[in-house]
Amino acid sequence: MAFNIAIDGPAGAGKSTIAKMLAKKMKYIYVDTGAMYRAMALYFLKNNISPDDEVRISDAVKQVDISIEYVDGAQQVLLNGENVTGELRNEAVGNMASATSVYPIVRKKLVALQQKLAKTADVIMDGRDIGTCVLPDAQVKIYLTASVQTRAKRRYDELSEKGESADLAMIAKDIEERDYRDMNREISPLKQAEDAILIDSSEMTIEEVVAAIESIVKEHK
Ligand code: DC
Repeated sequence: MAFNIAIDGPAGAGKSTIAKMLAKKMKYIYVDTGAMYRAMALYFLKNNISPDDEVRISDAVKQVDISIEYVDGAQQVLLNGENVTGELRNEAVGNMASATSVYPIVRKKLVALQQKLAKTADVIMDGRDIGTCVLPDAQVKIYLTASVQTRAKRRYDELSEKGESADLAMIAKDIEERDYRDMNREISPLKQAEDAILIDSSEMTIEEVVAAIESIVKEHK
């Protein structure tokens, strides 16, 4: 049986950085489910579909095929056969993904893909509903969080490093709004699974979080 590790938590908690490092160390496949919601969101954006227009969203979902490939261990997302990985990580796509991930039709399609991937391989999968809905039987479940201030500062530093201008207060507001939407939607809201282990990374380095999860995994093997 495949060994599955679920990592859930709010935006900016460090899930993808940590999951990627763990996957490399453990030779597991890293599945970034947020990127799937983002690819779907990109399609809506490119086709000028409003996040409030459930009828057009439902129609569009039927036209969208999302698939995953790995190049040198890095996940690539294909949207109707086109590799869109490089277009996914910006605020517009992230906000659209958060707004449209509330629709059952969107979730159903992506959850099926995620479950299929986890059945056939040892995976570290990160997202919002992995421990609660996608992989309820995952052998290890982590709920990774950090304070809003810490997450905003990390995002600010990331943007500054790329030479992009950023406003710390605006980023913090954006994070709070995203948290609220992700935690309060009707279907599969972000919440800690009952059997998930909570890690607050506010005062921890990346290496410390990786080491903490590694030792949890060892206990469950
Ligand atoms: O992790 P991320 O920032 O790339 O995710 C973008 C949005 O996608 C997030 O705000 C909510 C949604 N999402 C979700 O609903 N369920 C997941 N498993 C992953 C992401």
